[in-house]
Amino acid sequence: MRAKSVYHMQIPLIAANWKSNFTYKEAEDWLNFFKGKEISGGEIVVFPSFTFLGEVGHLINEYSLPFKVGAQDLSSFDQGAFTGEVNADQLKDFVEYVLIGHSERRKLFNETQEEILMKLDKAYKANLKVILCISKIEELDGVSLDNLVIAYEPLDAIGSGNPESAEKANDFAKEIKNKLDGARVIYGGSVDQHNVSGYLEQENIGGVLVGGKSLDPQSFLEIIQNAG
Ligand code: PGA
Repeated sequence: MRAKSVYHMQIPLIAANWKSNFTYKEAEDWLNFFKGKEISGGEIVVFPSFTFLGEVGHLINEYSLPFKVGAQDLSSFDQGAFTGEVNADQLKDFVEYVLIGHSERRKLFNETQEEILMKLDKAYKANLKVILCISKIEELDGVSLDNLVIAYEPLDAIGSGNPESAEKANDFAKEIKNKLDGARVIYGGSVDQHNVSGYLEQENIGGVLVGGKSLDPQSFLEIIQNAG
């Protein structure tokens, strides 16, 4: 095993992107699983659907879990006549983090780079911590904010069981850091309990964004344990 660099003295960020999964009851069961379990070794953020962000936060407090809450998206507009949108001011009472530009939003909902830049601006002004998802370096065009977390998620690795190699992901993470000084880079795309440590051993990777395997609490617990 490669010696960990000083950079890795920073605890890894472990993000659970639930996507459009779980009813409230299922989310409650998921959180309940972690009650009383030994959980350490990472900054852990769960990203539920909008409808129960507040409730998930309450349960995390009630069960004394070391988890933070994030939203999977936010509006590119402020408050106003934007039916169906959830804006940064509405989110900031409930979440610390927000995901922006996930490839599913870029592809399935035709989210443009311009909209993503607007969302970044809204999140930044509301003091939300951002995880900006990208799959290619051009998706950093126009991005100039400090303290960003960039999730590198190669398209064919997402949900496929076919993750990118840790070395390749590390090379890309280095490219991101060269372009965006000070960014923290995490990797996403078929991360599981067996491959997570390989990513976190890499010099330029400071965390993971987990989709599918975050839905099964036992797998996610093992990811946390193997990350520490
Ligand atoms: P996956 O999803 O872990 O299921 O590949 C990752 C993501 O889309 O964020």
